[in-house]
Amino acid sequence: MAKGEVSKTTKYREQYQPSSYLIDRVDMLVELFESHAEIHSCLALRRNPLFTGAVEELRLDGEELELKSIAVNDQALPLSGYELQDAHLVIRQPAESFTLKTVVQIKPQDNTRLEGLYKSGSKFCTQCEAEGFRRITYFLDRPDVMSVYDVTIRADKNAYPALLGNGNPAGSGELPEGRHWARWHDPIPKPCYLFALVAGDFDLLEDSFTTMSGHPVALKIYVDKGKLDQCAHAMRSVKKAMQWDEEVYGREYDLDIYQIVAVSDFNMGAMENKGLNIFNTKYVLANEMTATDADYDGVEAVIAHEYFHNWTGNRVTCRDWFQLSLKEGLTVFRDQQFSMDMGSPTVKRLDDVRVIRTAQFSEDSGPMAHPIRPDSYVEMNNFYTVTVYNKGAEVIRMLHTLLGADGFRKGMDRYFERHDGQAVTCDDFVQAHADANQRDLEQFKRWYSQAGTPVINVSDHYDAANQRYTLTLKQHCPATPGQKEKQPFFIPFKIGLLDKAGNDLPLNWQSKDADDQAIYGREAVLPLQRAEQQFVFEHIGEKPLPSLLRDFSAPVKLRYDYSDEQLAFLLANDSSLFNRWDAAQQLVSRVMLNAAEQFRAGEEMRLPAIVTEALAAVLDNHQLDNALRARLLQLPDIGYLQELVEKIDIDALVAAQQFIKRRVAETLYQPLRDCFQRVRGATGLDGDSAGRRALANTCLGLLVDSTDAEAYQLAHAQLHEAKTMTDRFAALRALAHSAAPNRQQALDDFTHWYVDEALVMDKWFTVQATAPLASALQEVQKLEQHSAFDAKNPNKVRALWMAFSHANPAGFHRADGAGYQFIAERVARLNQSNPQLAARLVSAFNRWKRYDDDRQQLMLKELKALLTQSGLSPDVFEIVSKSVEA
Ligand code: TRP
Ligand code: ZN
Repeated sequence: MAKGEVSKTTKYREQYQPSSYLIDRVDMLVELFESHAEIHSCLALRRNPLFTGAVEELRLDGEELELKSIAVNDQALPLSGYELQDAHLVIRQPAESFTLKTVVQIKPQDNTRLEGLYKSGSKFCTQCEAEGFRRITYFLDRPDVMSVYDVTIRADKNAYPALLGNGNPAGSGELPEGRHWARWHDPIPKPCYLFALVAGDFDLLEDSFTTMSGHPVALKIYVDKGKLDQCAHAMRSVKKAMQWDEEVYGREYDLDIYQIVAVSDFNMGAMENKGLNIFNTKYVLANEMTATDADYDGVEAVIAHEYFHNWTGNRVTCRDWFQLSLKEGLTVFRDQQFSMDMGSPTVKRLDDVRVIRTAQFSEDSGPMAHPIRPDSYVEMNNFYTVTVYNKGAEVIRMLHTLLGADGFRKGMDRYFERHDGQAVTCDDFVQAHADANQRDLEQFKRWYSQAGTPVINVSDHYDAANQRYTLTLKQHCPATPGQKEKQPFFIPFKIGLLDKAGNDLPLNWQSKDADDQAIYGREAVLPLQRAEQQFVFEHIGEKPLPSLLRDFSAPVKLRYDYSDEQLAFLLANDSSLFNRWDAAQQLVSRVMLNAAEQFRAGEEMRLPAIVTEALAAVLDNHQLDNALRARLLQLPDIGYLQELVEKIDIDALVAAQQFIKRRVAETLYQPLRDCFQRVRGATGLDGDSAGRRALANTCLGLLVDSTDAEAYQLAHAQLHEAKTMTDRFAALRALAHSAAPNRQQALDDFTHWYVDEALVMDKWFTVQATAPLASALQEVQKLEQHSAFDAKNPNKVRALWMAFSHANPAGFHRADGAGYQFIAERVARLNQSNPQLAARLVSAFNRWKRYDDDRQQLMLKELKALLTQSGLSPDVFEIVSKSVEA
């Protein structure tokens, strides 16, 4: 272990104990001043009947609070009655039930961690998940303590005309000295991580929604002054989400008012505080000239995500933080389903799969690998991961696949019926589905307890004489930290079998060693449950080509020996559009990895004609929708390729990628140009227009990759004439990632137009931070000095430092180690001001063992230096120490 400063210890899921006390009611008065805030709290405490041990003291959580007064049952508590510790207030000899009144002073103005109560610009706001409420007042800061809240906020009326809280409004009025007050009552018991308050001067967009039972709900979106023209999309998204949750899950909203506040300083995307969601501006603000189509989709998805939490997270919440995926995996699944229903389902699915295959697979095979329900943690903030969120969503999706849409809905209904108002576990969730469907899901639960990505090896055999086709599936899961041996998973493995004409054969199959019924159809979900299992298909008249793991029906790595020709055939013919994309990715990845091998061996790199022919056919296939054609033409990036190899030779991968891109672009220049000319210039906000833009801009990017002067001109013209940010930014990106002579001019023009639009400037920082150019690091260093950069603002840190370290492999992994050194220095600085963000930044080093020896040593050196730093936060300590030990 390192130094004494790291006081936080490891917490274990197995050591869960119910709280000794419960808090039924909370009454708070929050006084906001320019120099500090004063929090008066009155807690109605009583012994928890579920707690069996002896109770000699009550330990409340509290960090960086200055206690001004304390009373029990309205009697001032003498010094002998309590003890103040570093992070706790200990009440000695507590009665069976009593009220505790405390007054504390805090300093929101100095809060750079952005946890608890803090200021973003001139506004007060809060972030309490996971353990921020203890920075506002003394409390039992754990999600299984649920209370009804009454909260009064007081502040200067001029500076803070809007005073917002959870629940429904319960009065407001004037006070002396230009101050005013507002009171809020939240009737539904909630854990304190869902507490929120906001005070500030905003522009407000109002609307309303009538629920399916006829209850009117006031909808309010609060944004910075002057941003009202960027709120319409967010409001539309709220109403769509509310309606969808009624239609698909039968879930209605439960308060009179639903409020969203957008703030510029926020550690994550958004937060589902009851009735008062607080959002990063990035996921609220959007109009044609500031947001790309991808940004629009992001707003819609995150708005839906936070809204869906009202049932999956708030009404039914987590018993403890190890159960985080109970709400996050489920809610991500729900927002993904929603987005699939709102737009192109295949495109949405493959975008989600890309996240799993890059970020999640990478996490799963590194030092931070953990099950979607972790067994231990040092700092909970470090477990808001792509594993808990996105793999968690894949696990819910598998359940949906296994039970079918109706069975899944039955399970959800049972879950809400049984657990509304409770703080529960992932086991409770699975049990509700098992009971509602009379299914045994014990083996399925291994997805919650075992980390790591299963690998499925598939082999097949065709017996022509008996017209019998046999698929043999073998699964194994590599060891992860703390978990050597894994038990077989229950894997829903979706397949089809293609005949020579590319049509799905009718399937009549049986699992050889399970006693399933024979099943018929043109697509099958094979229930893989053992380490090795055979599935036998009868009456198969010709040797079929299998289309495997359709729709990515399980978060696994698939191994099957396809030839290039077979992949090209699947790309052209598979009835599963998802698998067409998958075949394209496999084909191009293989070609890129081969080129990387050729580069290593000092041979000439080659691009086989089958690839350009297949891509030319995609360009020509007007049957497919444009958005999907765009995705089919997008070549895999380094992040994707890295997960396909054991040892990462970054130089070879970068060289191969550049080579393949350029050769594809040169070979297909004419058809790309024709396609670009045909589809460009769409201006609508509808899906078809967005699809046209996606295809046109994919073509434009490739054209520029050819390094042809005419292509640079096309991009330059689009940059200036664009009528949407999608087109403008695509042109900027193409030029900024090229060696075009007018590259710098394009970047300068763009800043000139947008220097006052913070979110657009974030894009401008990112596009430079991710440029695959030798000068990237120097550019990033220069950009730090730009007046629009601010190291205290998480969006800026993400736009510049995170983008460089996580999305610029060539720059970050510079052979001289300068990229590592640069980022490590920034981690050390951020460690002081915002440890949560510092921990995210330092995770760029997690996979150091995958690189060549020289780079390993360079990365390890930075990690070790960080460990010796004084004042290291538990957040950074946990990530770095786990990386070094691995
Ligand atoms: N619960 C939020 C969500 O996924 C996540 C979140 C927002 C969060 N802010 C945070 C988590 C700060 C940890 C710390 O919707
Ligand atoms: Zn969430």
